[in-house]
Amino acid sequence: MSHALFEPLTLRGVEARNRIWIPPMCQYMVDAQDGVPTDWHLMHLGSLARGGAGVVMAEATGVAPEGRISPQDLGLWNDDQAAAFARITSFIHTQGALAAIQLAHAGRKASTWRGWGERPEGNVPVEHGGWQPVGASPIAFTGLAEPRELTVHELPGIVEAFAAAARRAIAAGFDILEIHAAHGYLLHSFLSPLSNQRTDAYGGSLENRSRLLIEIVDAVRAAIGDDIPLLVRVSATDWAEGGWDLPQTVELSHMLREHSVDMIDVSSGGNILHVKIPVGPGYQLAFATAIREASGLPVSTVGMIDEPFQAEQIVALEQADVVMVGRETLRDPNFPIRAADALRYRMSYKPGPYERAYR
Ligand code: FNR
Repeated sequence: MSHALFEPLTLRGVEARNRIWIPPMCQYMVDAQDGVPTDWHLMHLGSLARGGAGVVMAEATGVAPEGRISPQDLGLWNDDQAAAFARITSFIHTQGALAAIQLAHAGRKASTWRGWGERPEGNVPVEHGGWQPVGASPIAFTGLAEPRELTVHELPGIVEAFAAAARRAIAAGFDILEIHAAHGYLLHSFLSPLSNQRTDAYGGSLENRSRLLIEIVDAVRAAIGDDIPLLVRVSATDWAEGGWDLPQTVELSHMLREHSVDMIDVSSGGNILHVKIPVGPGYQLAFATAIREASGLPVSTVGMIDEPFQAEQIVALEQADVVMVGRETLRDPNFPIRAADALRYRMSYKPGPYERAYR
């Protein structure tokens, strides 16, 4: 039986022990004050490392306070946050996994309530810790406040915030960085013509809409040097007429390759509400494969991949280089160990006591 899922993957000399990676997943914990990770994040990310994943990626982490999705999001705009993350990366390393982090700015989808339970409509008001969201253009995401359009003079500050957060991430022990350019957050909202109607150098042509992301990629690369793998998460399509789509994502992936990005993490949607998405097992895989073939860059796929043989087949058939498994690893953080067992792969890094629980 093939074990492609358990082949190591090396990017810029950094080796991940296998191809099952944990995608970024916001925890929205109420005890996360001022963006500082807590014991919850240590236990959550730590258990995923212990469960055998190759790479554990920390959630969308705000590069600035107003770049958080909710007031409960983590951040990396100060050294207290970096120190708390260092404890987490250190534990992840003891389990043989690599630590990655997704650096994010939520843009027009910022200052929202956390994603479950009873929650009021609209944005979090200022008196409850919310703030005025900013965006590419004053176009609201359905149900949220109209963002304030960022002036061209504010954009270098956003670029620098990503670079500074990247420097802190390296100091905190992260091995891999990802820039969040998906799901309708700030960078995706610049990419999509449906949310970007600027008339300056950051709107209009594909090159202009990509400009902020490319400037951030360059600044982050300059901040982290040549030895750290850099990923970009994209939404391959808005699933909406006149929006961001696969051909534009392919064009973007060529640019990202030229600008030293090492892998594209391929998701979709999130910029436009109420669109029809054909959700099903591996429903975003075809986008990843198309981007891989066109750009020559490694890709990760994500989205309803929760079965070991399905994951194995994706890597074995070279449809993607990495499979990110999200909700299934929330249900079972030991999914990678379980997958190895199902595929009859002898995992050398299975924690000793588990030998007695798995075949
Ligand atoms: C997510 N997702 C997500 N995506 C992202 O790019 N940054 C993030 O911080 C989050 N946060 C988040 C929280 C929670 C609780 C969930 C369930 C999801 C999306 C996630 O990374 C993944 O792309 C999707 O969950 C689809 O993969 P699965 O869950 O079907 O394997």
